[in-house]
Amino acid sequence: MKGNSQKTILVTGGAGYIGSHMCVELLQTGHQVVVLDDLSNSNPKSLQAVERITQKTLTFVEGDIRDTRILTNLFETHNFSAVLHFAGLKAVGESVEHPVQYYDVNVNGTLKLVDAMAAAACKTLVFSSSATVYGIPEQMPISECSPTAAINPYGRSKLMVEEVLRDLYASDPTWRISLLRYFNPVGAHASGEIGEDPHDVPNNLMPFISQVAVGRRDQLNVFGDDYGTPDGTGVRDYIHVVDLAKGHLKALQHLADTPKLAIHNLGTGNGYSVMDAINAFERASGRKIPYQVVERRAGDAATSYADPRKANQELGWQAEYDLERMCADAWRWQSNYPNGFRD
Ligand code: NAD
Ligand code: WQD
Repeated sequence: MKGNSQKTILVTGGAGYIGSHMCVELLQTGHQVVVLDDLSNSNPKSLQAVERITQKTLTFVEGDIRDTRILTNLFETHNFSAVLHFAGLKAVGESVEHPVQYYDVNVNGTLKLVDAMAAAACKTLVFSSSATVYGIPEQMPISECSPTAAINPYGRSKLMVEEVLRDLYASDPTWRISLLRYFNPVGAHASGEIGEDPHDVPNNLMPFISQVAVGRRDQLNVFGDDYGTPDGTGVRDYIHVVDLAKGHLKALQHLADTPKLAIHNLGTGNGYSVMDAINAFERASGRKIPYQVVERRAGDAATSYADPRKANQELGWQAEYDLERMCADAWRWQSNYPNGFRD
């Protein structure tokens, strides 16, 4: 039998870093949550922690978004008002080595999902896109009309999905689709009970710094200090993962007004360098972060930060937390659980 609630949300990839923070915000705002995740890059303990934080329960289905049988069953069992689609692969380097796997999970997985949604007449979708679709941007800040030019298979998979969803909306304008282009999500829930827990060596700056601070790694490699930035290191728009999750709630409200396909940057509009991030994390943790400067990493832009005004004006959303708070919350999680969910 189908559930009665009009506010049941399907969260694909809900056991992951951003998805688990999203589940907290959804449960705390009175939604019912069903998570579909194959746990390929996450641990079910994240969902137990979500239930502890919120004192509410959610439904977890372990499975692959490409599995039509599971999708059909899910949409037959529940009356979803919307789908928040986080499930996917996200490591840029790995996408260069295994492009077919990336296109299969990210693009084909989304095709399977929207097919099942259409069959169930559930036409409200929020998709996790990325600032990576802007490639090496020429002008700062980056607005939604800046040219897109993905430069690796991961980025192209995001851009392809955006294009698929645009075509879908053009073919049937009763869809309600939000493409959210995240800048650099970092930090953790204030409880310190959930956070980023990379299975392998972290690719991204903040989880690497955090693992150095807690003693899991000896030192950070700073990828280049000869960029045309104030201190020579790369500048990024780090955004607190809880602010990011709140942006999704605003996107859902925006979609509730009228059918549309909307694109929004989710960033703070502020750029911080690698050295700023190291210094902020040292202050937050009281630990020294040893580092050495090495060669630039191929494919890195010198600077990337958002123009967040469209999200502010159209969604009524704006990031609240600053870099100090992002580091303090990341450190609370990392110091509580030095080995992440394996502890
Ligand atoms: P994550 O790896 O922590 O979460 C993704 C989740 O999807 C994981 O729990 C994983 O097990 C699951 N998953 C992967 N393949 C699956 C499949 N075939 N079927 C079902 N579940 C599957 O990553 P995240 O940082 O939480 O990212 C969430 C989304 O946001 C991704 O789509 C990512 O591309 C996008 N994004 C992330 C960032 C970032 O820096 N973290 C930036 C921009 C966009
Ligand atoms: C930030 C800065 C590095 C690691 C990536 C993806 C992007 C998006 C977010 C998903 C850069 C420097 C990093 C290290 C370093 N993900 N750095 N030492 O590259 O902006 O974006 O994650 O969509 O698609 O490309 O983030 O955290 O890897 O790097 O010096 O060990 O830190 O050079 O200047 P990036 P990042």
